[in-house]
Amino acid sequence: MAILITGGCGYIGSHTCVEMLSAGYDIVVMDNYYNSKPEALVRIKELSGKDFPFYECDIRDAEGLRRIFRENKIEAVIHFAGLKAVGESVRIPLAYYDNNVGGTVVLCQVMAEMGCKRMIFSSSATVYGTGNPSPLKEDMPTGAVTNPYGRTKHMIEGILQDLCVSDPEWSVILLRYFTPIGAHESGRIGEDPNGIPNNLMPYISQVAIGKLPRLSVFGNDYDTPDGTGVRDYIHVVDLACGHVRAVDYALTHTGAQAINLGTGNGCSVLDLVNAFVTANQVEVPYVIAPRRPGDVAVCYSDPTKAGELLGWTANRDLTDMCRDTWRWQNQNPRGYDN
Ligand code: NAD
Ligand code: WQD
Repeated sequence: MAILITGGCGYIGSHTCVEMLSAGYDIVVMDNYYNSKPEALVRIKELSGKDFPFYECDIRDAEGLRRIFRENKIEAVIHFAGLKAVGESVRIPLAYYDNNVGGTVVLCQVMAEMGCKRMIFSSSATVYGTGNPSPLKEDMPTGAVTNPYGRTKHMIEGILQDLCVSDPEWSVILLRYFTPIGAHESGRIGEDPNGIPNNLMPYISQVAIGKLPRLSVFGNDYDTPDGTGVRDYIHVVDLACGHVRAVDYALTHTGAQAINLGTGNGCSVLDLVNAFVTANQVEVPYVIAPRRPGDVAVCYSDPTKAGELLGWTANRDLTDMCRDTWRWQNQNPRGYDN
């Protein structure tokens, strides 16, 4: 029996492949390479010392998916595949609804047809929206999202919960990620954004290496200790380990569960800049810029439920996140294009 990993060549997917293999699971990976490169597969195999089937396939391609299920015994799916750029989702919302929502519906239809009813879904802290105070807990209201990307995650959570109500054989874990950063400690896999990064950590590391002149800090007038936005940064390898625990859980339970994956610690933009400078002995020049539309001031998790249900807690700290990001950036200045 194997676990199908959609979007397994991407940032979080590639790290999860390595952790699933080292936990002893067999995996099958699919990706359409929309936001990833075949080199990621080479490196997953190198790090794990294991081989596995790969399919270049789109989650909207029902016949392609059927072939994967026919050729492999799949007992659960970890579903990463999707589009994730918040700003782009405002410009081309239909592409986000088609890929993320439409693609997930097709995937679930084929899963049900093939008798595989266990899914770990990549949701996001973004579903908590603007109305809730941190620390954010799973039973707080969701849906006051600020962009189409966030709406796709909220809609998919609802679709998967409806599915579990309609058929008690389904088992779904909605993993609400806080802000994943860092890279595998080997420096062989990491985040490889196209063009100028949208997110803070890849921006910091590209400034540190001299590809970009300076960081713009989006707002220093929030109601936070230093005025800059506060987030719950989580090491991508801790996040990947959370997926291994979620698969263990989904194989032995049914129904839908939303679970936060975060550290529970709030960290400001300037805290992260300072941690990066200290951990790596580099310079990161910055200027204060206007707030980014749609940002909340503070967003961090209460990770208690993940501890209770999955036996999982994050155990890598900010220094690990900064050091591992820098090792990846330094060893792969052009990402997987080296
Ligand atoms: P990523 O872009 O690196 O990985 C997504 C992968 O899915 C890519 O390899 C891409 O080529 C593939 N893909 C996209 N559309 C596809 C399709 N239609 N068919 C097949 N493959 C497709 O992103 P990531 O950072 O690894 O994120 C993984 C998941 O986690 C996404 O669903 C994302 O929305 C979610 N998420 C990410 C973050 C984050 O900050 N990185 C936070 C919360 C949730
Ligand atoms: C972190 C902090 C910014 C860039 C976003 C999405 C969210 C999720 C992860 C998937 C904020 C500030 C950033 C920069 C800055 N994706 N910042 N200068 O905001 O937690 O979440 O990515 O679900 O949906 O909204 O992460 O890294 O973009 O920003 O000052 O150049 O850094 O304002 O306070 P965030 P981020």
